[in-house]
Amino acid sequence: MSKMWKKYLLWFAQEHVEFRVSEIESLLSLLRIHMKYQEKPRDLQPYWVVEFSSEDDAKLLASRSVSLRTCLELWGHEPSLEKLHNTLHAKAEMLASYFPPNKSFKIEVETFCRHFTLQEKVEKIETFSYLPLQGEVNLKSPDIRLYYIEYYGTKALEPPELPYDVFFGRWVADGLRQLSKKLSLKTRKFIGNTSMDPQLSLLMANQAQIHDGDIVLDPFVGSGSLLVAAAQFGAYVFGSDIDYLMLHGRTKPSRIRQKKRENDESICANMQQYNLGHKYLDVLVNDFAMVFWKDSLEFDAVITDPPYGIREATERIGTEKEDCVVSDEHLATHVPAKIEYGIPSIYRDLLVFSAKHLRIGGRLVCWFPVFREDYTERCLPQHPCLKLVANSEQPLSKVTSRRLLTYEKIRQPSQSELEIRDISIQDFREKYFVLREETRKERRLREAAVRKENWEKYKENKK
Ligand SMILES: C[S@@+](CC[C@H](N)C(=O)[O-])C[C@H]1O[C@@H](n2cnc3c(N)ncnc32)[C@H](O)[C@@H]1O
Repeated sequence: MSKMWKKYLLWFAQEHVEFRVSEIESLLSLLRIHMKYQEKPRDLQPYWVVEFSSEDDAKLLASRSVSLRTCLELWGHEPSLEKLHNTLHAKAEMLASYFPPNKSFKIEVETFCRHFTLQEKVEKIETFSYLPLQGEVNLKSPDIRLYYIEYYGTKALEPPELPYDVFFGRWVADGLRQLSKKLSLKTRKFIGNTSMDPQLSLLMANQAQIHDGDIVLDPFVGSGSLLVAAAQFGAYVFGSDIDYLMLHGRTKPSRIRQKKRENDESICANMQQYNLGHKYLDVLVNDFAMVFWKDSLEFDAVITDPPYGIREATERIGTEKEDCVVSDEHLATHVPAKIEYGIPSIYRDLLVFSAKHLRIGGRLVCWFPVFREDYTERCLPQHPCLKLVANSEQPLSKVTSRRLLTYEKIRQPSQSELEIRDISIQDFREKYFVLREETRKERRLREAAVRKENWEKYKENKK
């Protein structure tokens, strides 16, 4: 039987616009939904006109998308209200079947980049009085929600007199914007200085195509924001971090008014806060530079925000002293020294680890810092077993940005591919501090002072 393709309007939030296409494409492939584009999505435009062969597909996509605000079955899309009325008049008979007398309805007016008063909106609604709506109006919980949308472009300061596009349609589903609010860092029990905001964390989980029962790792877990997002989509989550104080909820509080951390702050407490305790496997203190995992261990996804060394130190266990041996006598109380963990080494380790420990088809989703003027796709970390499938930019300043990279494992690595020593990428951190005119020595001294402060606080807390 041939499928009935219908037009739908996908209306997006104007936030993290760059991530939209990648997110929707990841979800279409994860959820095995076939969607046809009516026109190629344009950069800043908040809407796409698409087709689905079933309304369930539209609902399924909306149920996972963080970028999507709302989805309508599109009954009319025209350059003017007059033309829209003509189109809807011509469809009146077909539309009547949507409006039996026992179904209440409501018409909402939305305008993009122009503001109208309530009275003006009511006047616009009244122009649709010819529609064959038989049920009662119900403003609180209607059976059918209809939308009239006027689009005035994206230049909020100088909108045109008349809209560029007008739309009319029936509400089908909203995206997952509410979930970002529920997971807000403002109300989260345990956060750190570098906690990832929920919207980006959920976007990362979607890029990783996480689904029920997956096992997901964040090897630079910090306060565990990415684990919350992954667990929200059904994954069992595991994390590791070199920072003992962070994993034990003993770092300096990040909230301005909080003087001391509460005793029960932890990643596990966050998971319980969102009723996700049953998805929490564990977190452990571990230097990612040390090979530590069992060879046969396999993850469905690795999602992570590695340290760039700007707000937090990038360190690994090691020493610059030659032939350093710890005597038996000191072994029990020995605290290993740390040395710098350069950005090229971090990404080499991350890519090699993912090539080894992801299942085929599993995804690595990670941030990568760049200087915008130096950026080309060739400067991104590469590994022969990982295919780059998405790459979106989030500007951080005029000169710097970070890119959200999504890799898919395409084959098992050979022994030599697990021993790759160097990947040729710029050390973002080196250039950053050269530009800030901070010498290596000054930087080390500053970082050592932070470590000392943390250590003193830890001892203080233990008393
Ligand atoms: C950008 S933060 C991650 C923040 C995290 N996504 C969150 O939401 O809180 C990077 C983390 O990497 C950790 N880290 C730095 N060097 C490490 C190493 N050698 N091994 C493991 N973790 C390391 C830091 O302690 C820090 O918590």
